Amino acid sequence: MIDIEKVDEIIDKWGCDPDFVIEMFQDVQDHFRYIPRKALERIADRTGKPRGKLFHIVTFYKAFSLEPRGEKEIQVCMGTACYVRGAPDVLAAMERELGIKSGKTTADGKFTLSEVRCLGACGMAPVVTVDGRVYGRVGSSDIPGIIREMRRPQ
Ligand code: FES
Repeated sequence: MIDIEKVDEIIDKWGCDPDFVIEMFQDVQDHFRYIPRKALERIADRTGKPRGKLFHIVTFYKAFSLEPRGEKEIQVCMGTACYVRGAPDVLAAMERELGIKSGKTTADGKFTLSEVRCLGACGMAPVVTVDGRVYGRVGSSDIPGIIREMRRPQ
């Protein structure tokens, strides 16, 4: 069950204006770390935008997710430079270490793993980012250490 009052608060913040549904979704995504179906329906009902149209928006923008995301986002670059320098092995090691496939979130809700195209740091290939923090020249043997570091309480 989601906090629908929070969703209403976000809708009100944007004046219930159908021209600001993307901004509403951004706030919903920031708060819940995904777009719950109930939130989408609420935004549709209150702004008068058709649900189908909103669903299309949410699936179109990569920043939005209809599934809960982890507390930390791990991205493995699969761009050409990283790929030729061993990114597939890095991704496989990451999947092994986390026990999930790329695109999924760990059961404890800590990590979401995804593949991306060129992070713009090709000179450091292969590249991995965790919540925007960049790790360069990563080998598959580095993965357990990176995950251990991320699991440590901040
Ligand atoms: S291809 Fe990976 S950073 Fe450019």
